[in-house]
Amino acid sequence: MHCLILLALCCAFCLAQTPGWNLLFGTSILDETQKEPLQFDKPVPKWIKGSLIRNGPARYEMGKRSFLNLFDGFGKLYSWQFPGNGSAFFTSRFVQSDCYNESLRINDIAPYQTFDDLVPSMGFLERELSLSHGLDNMNINVYNYSGDCVVLSDTWKLYVVDCYTLDTIRHSMPNIPGVETGFPFVSVMSVAHPVREYGTNHHLTILQSLSIIPGMPHKFTLVRTKSADIREKIAEWKVKKMPYLHSFSTTERYAIIFGCPFYMDIEKLLQYSFPKDSIAFHADEPTIAYIVDLKTGSVTTIETENVFTMHHVNAYEMDNNLLLDVVSYPDASLVSFFEMNNLMNKTKRDRVAFKPSLTRYRIDLKAQKMTPITFDTNPSIPFANMLEVPTINEQYRSKHYCYIYGVVFKSDNKVWGNFSFVKKDVCNSTGDLSWSLPGHYPMEGWFVPDPTGSAEDDGVLMVPVLDGNLGKSYLIILDPKTMKPITKAYLPIIVPFHFHGRFIENVY
Ligand SMILES: [Fe+2]
Repeated sequence: MHCLILLALCCAFCLAQTPGWNLLFGTSILDETQKEPLQFDKPVPKWIKGSLIRNGPARYEMGKRSFLNLFDGFGKLYSWQFPGNGSAFFTSRFVQSDCYNESLRINDIAPYQTFDDLVPSMGFLERELSLSHGLDNMNINVYNYSGDCVVLSDTWKLYVVDCYTLDTIRHSMPNIPGVETGFPFVSVMSVAHPVREYGTNHHLTILQSLSIIPGMPHKFTLVRTKSADIREKIAEWKVKKMPYLHSFSTTERYAIIFGCPFYMDIEKLLQYSFPKDSIAFHADEPTIAYIVDLKTGSVTTIETENVFTMHHVNAYEMDNNLLLDVVSYPDASLVSFFEMNNLMNKTKRDRVAFKPSLTRYRIDLKAQKMTPITFDTNPSIPFANMLEVPTINEQYRSKHYCYIYGVVFKSDNKVWGNFSFVKKDVCNSTGDLSWSLPGHYPMEGWFVPDPTGSAEDDGVLMVPVLDGNLGKSYLIILDPKTMKPITKAYLPIIVPFHFHGRFIENVY
């Protein structure tokens, strides 16, 4: 009886204290590894052949300087390599970007663009230099561009890395033939989530060109990416206000850019230097969707409800409509969660409004109308519709699909720390499933399809997890049909919260 009471008290304490939170966020993890063998507790399916490569911030200070915002942490890459014989290896390296190398050299945070200020604060000259150097810290995502492994932020610049060793090779800022990017435009913003173009190995992305002349319109360019360096213009159009974009969607024929009223102000950026002080959510303005016909390049503009979204899930065509699934929010307060002052203070972070809601928009192109639709809730997993960092079986990209995998960060809708990894069935909520353990923090999962499978969920899910109780990280492989563990392996280093990545087949 005493043991049970003690166990209950320990669990209550763990839940209240979010054990290991400081390892998940805010602590620099400097260790790097090269192809260290991993010991899984049960056999790894031998059909898994390739590497899960992921990216995220992992260093928050250099010398006597530190970042104020998680978004600015120096990018670090992680790779779980599976040769296809049941063995597995782990590699981790910081992105050796110009800003990282220069910061190491001077033992200070070098003057490159950051989302927020530093501690101690940047001086006037440093701010000017950081604006002219631009954002160089690629800490959000990883893509395979026709054999080139590239790492991205929400910028046009990217870095090419070695897919096997994670060594940084070079940067690239590709030109787009036929697109003017010079004065009066500042053409540096893009999205960290390009989308594979239907039926091809190309990706689609967006270049955002901010006009620095007051009153002169800004410019969107929808771009086809053929490799790390080759780009093609698909469409270009002007906008009065430039929304911050992080992701978008494509169907077989259309690209859907969802311009939420979270607008960038170039005059403020030039004045204050930091995007954080130059972006504002306008609660009284509509969201403007731009729907681009990929065959003709024509753009249809539709206004819909005031909403904020970071992550699109998927989109497809059905019965002459487009169906678009996004993670939506009533406003952009989510962004303030990533300020270190909020993130590392339990009372403050739990106070940040955070209620993501999986939402479908039915887009009637003829009527030029967008209608939001809410998904059913499964009463046994009432939090499943609050998932974030959504991923799907990529073979169902731009097609009718049922399953979304994601993380619910506040499963009780109260406390940051009650993480659950969920499978949301958007075709039938009775198929919703979840996996969680107290004090364990799953991150974005990736679905790897079984090459002999035929169903949408035939495959495995790879999910990095921080075990906050032990202060160790592991990779768990889940069965998507049941969300039960298949096997797991602890890692030689701590892998803190990071953003995104993907499984790249036949690279190991
Ligand atoms: Fe993202």
